[in-house]
Amino acid sequence: MNKMRQFLLLYLNVVSVVTLTAQDISKQEYRQRREQLRKLLPDNSLAVFFSAPIKNRSNDTDYHYHPDPNMVYLSGWEEPHAVLLVFKNLQQDSEGIFSEVLYVRDRDPYEELWNGKVMGVDRAQDWGLDRVQNRIDFIESPLNYDAFDSVLIYEFQNDVRDRPRDNYDLYALQKHFRTQLNYPAQFNPIRYGLYQKIRQLTPRNIKPLQSEIRRMVVIESGLQDDDLLQEFLSLTDTSSSEELKIQSDFLLQNIHFDVDQLPKLMGQLREIKSKTEIRLLKKAAQISVMGQIEVMKAIHPEMSEREIQGIHEFVYKKYGAADVGYPSIVGAGGNGCVLHYNHNEMEKVDNQMVLMDVGAEYKGYTADVTRTLPANGTFTQAQKELYSVVFKAQEAGIAAAQVGVSFTRITQAVYDEITRGLQALGLITQANEMSKYLPHGVAHHIGLDVHDPGEYTRLKPNMVITVEPGIYVPEGSPCDRKWWNIGIRIEDDILITNEGPINLSDGAPRTWEAIEQQMRSESVLNSWILPPLED
Ligand code: GLY
Ligand code: MN
Ligand code: MN
Repeated sequence: MNKMRQFLLLYLNVVSVVTLTAQDISKQEYRQRREQLRKLLPDNSLAVFFSAPIKNRSNDTDYHYHPDPNMVYLSGWEEPHAVLLVFKNLQQDSEGIFSEVLYVRDRDPYEELWNGKVMGVDRAQDWGLDRVQNRIDFIESPLNYDAFDSVLIYEFQNDVRDRPRDNYDLYALQKHFRTQLNYPAQFNPIRYGLYQKIRQLTPRNIKPLQSEIRRMVVIESGLQDDDLLQEFLSLTDTSSSEELKIQSDFLLQNIHFDVDQLPKLMGQLREIKSKTEIRLLKKAAQISVMGQIEVMKAIHPEMSEREIQGIHEFVYKKYGAADVGYPSIVGAGGNGCVLHYNHNEMEKVDNQMVLMDVGAEYKGYTADVTRTLPANGTFTQAQKELYSVVFKAQEAGIAAAQVGVSFTRITQAVYDEITRGLQALGLITQANEMSKYLPHGVAHHIGLDVHDPGEYTRLKPNMVITVEPGIYVPEGSPCDRKWWNIGIRIEDDILITNEGPINLSDGAPRTWEAIEQQMRSESVLNSWILPPLED
């Protein structure tokens, strides 16, 4: 999570829809994924996954449902109110042996009348899992979690609604599970992580742990009043450290769960894409490319940001993409300098640069592609100069994306070029001023999530990552006014292979010359004129 924060854009309230990856990925592949997870699980443990919550939009209207990517990754299950258990070791009960259970909703004619098909337990039996049970059994025939050395979970979020007429909705399933686990009402994973470190203390790591705790107490204000941590900070020698180890052991005695390992294990699995996943990501990238090309042909200074967004998204739907993988970013001029800008509300983009960070979600897999262009089809000298710096930085970043290199090397290659370019153009004098104009990370995995999880260490074959340098010069920046209100990002989706990086989104023109040329082509949308509406 901390790592994810350094990436460019994080979205919490993503509007999305149920996808159909299950049809493309075979039951065998899902089973293999669960086997791989099982291999990584510690002895005598289990991993628990809940489906994603249904999110309310307003009153009696919900957002389109977006399934939980881990649940989808491991089982292809895309319905709400479900739980998946994956055990390290074979389990046995009166019904037989099993190493995984999926708990699902039963069929419900009323639900199906209003919201469509519910698979139900019977049909889910065919899903390829060892065992499928009714979600009611998750509560009424509970497992004894104390029998396991560890229960690996994701931290619970507070965005699950309690549906009053459903005693077995996600809220109830999680409430039951939290009780079984003794999950503290105010669970702070950082606090418990630090307790664990105190419990495992050796005389040699007192000082480094004190420095770490000192840092964390500043970041996490909730830890300032923590007696154990404060006492630990005031330790001057090893004599009383045994006492604190006992205290931390006592505070942890009821904690049999672990929120730390599972996200890491899932990252290890999900960061390497299978053949089918690569095919779906290629398709998502190609669809996104077509959106960029159609906009390049159609855009003109009278257009609104929203209309440009609409062209991208219309093209996606024409190609069968269910949705966007994140809210589309279309920002003209100064709006392009706002990293998370997705209001897309400027009514006339005028003769400005327009930054378009848009990605199709195809069968659950999302592309993440950005192009920036002058709405009138011709780069000014200043726009051209800044654009060329970003382009050169992206070329350096893509060239660095070789098997075995670290993510930080890609970032460094990009930052070095941006720094050199900004210095040459006179926007900065010192190298450490670079981050003023490029305040974000420049590479992340894509997959079922636009910011897909991974270890973020060294590149391996069959990873798919972005390389996305940018320069953003908001009005008022301490440089020549000619640079003001220019925001540029170029972002492509790169498949890592032993033969070198392959740019999956290269079909959308990237150099300023190729963009200008593409923008000279005619668009059928120019002749699509809707009648004006009455006031
Ligand atoms: N569109 C999100 C990102 O570029 O990271
Ligand atoms: Mn990105
Ligand atoms: Mn992006």
